[in-house]
Amino acid sequence: MNLAEDEKEMVNETLTRTPSEVSRQFYAREYWRSHGVMKFVRRYTPFWWRRVLRAPYLFALDSMDAILGRGNDLTPPRYLNYAGFKGFAEAGQEHLRYFKEFCGLQPHHRVLDIGCGIGRMAVPLTGYLSTGSYEGLDIVPSGIRWCQQHITRKYPNFHFQIADIHNKQYNPGGRCKPSEYRFPFPDGEFDLVFLISVFSHLLPADMDHYIAEISRVLRPGAKCFFTAFLLDDVARRGVAEGKSSLQFVYELSGCWTTDPVTPETAVGYDVSTIAPLLQRHSLSLDAMYLGGWSGRSKFFSYGDLVTATKA
Ligand SMILES: C[S@@+](CC[C@H](N)C(=O)[O-])C[C@H]1O[C@@H](n2cnc3c(N)ncnc32)[C@H](O)[C@@H]1O
Repeated sequence: MNLAEDEKEMVNETLTRTPSEVSRQFYAREYWRSHGVMKFVRRYTPFWWRRVLRAPYLFALDSMDAILGRGNDLTPPRYLNYAGFKGFAEAGQEHLRYFKEFCGLQPHHRVLDIGCGIGRMAVPLTGYLSTGSYEGLDIVPSGIRWCQQHITRKYPNFHFQIADIHNKQYNPGGRCKPSEYRFPFPDGEFDLVFLISVFSHLLPADMDHYIAEISRVLRPGAKCFFTAFLLDDVARRGVAEGKSSLQFVYELSGCWTTDPVTPETAVGYDVSTIAPLLQRHSLSLDAMYLGGWSGRSKFFSYGDLVTATKA
């Protein structure tokens, strides 16, 4: 057995047997945030206000890191990281394994990361896409600027751009509707398009349009990977029994949300809608790996993972 096979076996072991530690931490954190009094604190304190209120505390932690020489050039400061600091490195590594293992990602591939945030997935890819290239797109300018200054400067095959798209949670002043946004790339351009924790903030018409755009920019036979919150019988039971970390109890047209005031806080979809949605846009479902957010006992990631192939 050569080294590559050895490594592959290790990855398989990790994927099939062990929920990652970061997934367990996410479950615990989200459970705490969406139950009891915290549910109401979050509902009535808009996302960006909470960021501003926490900024001095995060800034103090960043200063401590700087004094102690912790961190590195490719880790964003906490106060800037609106997309979740905890597990920044671990979550990136975890998903890189999925891209390789489930989607056959190769070092020469061309990759698109929709909703790239502040580079959590881009950073580990810098060590892998040696002759390939990466495009990241997001609707929050501060994250994109940080990625341009820190990642593109060092890795010129990594590009980041801002899309001024409306999202009630992340970019309430955005001018373009997600359902009308055309990805700024030609047809058949990419070997892999992924979205991590993005469909969990998009409403049905927007998700439908994004799937159409993903299909357009993928070359035939190429892969799409995304995370979502999918409701099957186990997840519904988890919600009903209060075991799930997210309470999808408010039904909207075609989806569920945890928050009737800002539905984009967390959006869940019936698991049975995914295959037909993909099929309508020339993508075939490869696999779904249902995650631990719902309180199910066997899982290896926090969110539900979906992989699909372009026809
Ligand atoms: C939970 S964060 C995840 C960020 C990143 N994918 C990661 O895993 O670190 C959700 C991201 O989706 C972005 N987003 C929300 N609506 C979007 C849209 N319509 N198009 C592209 N990105 C969007 C947000 O700005 C935010 O960066």
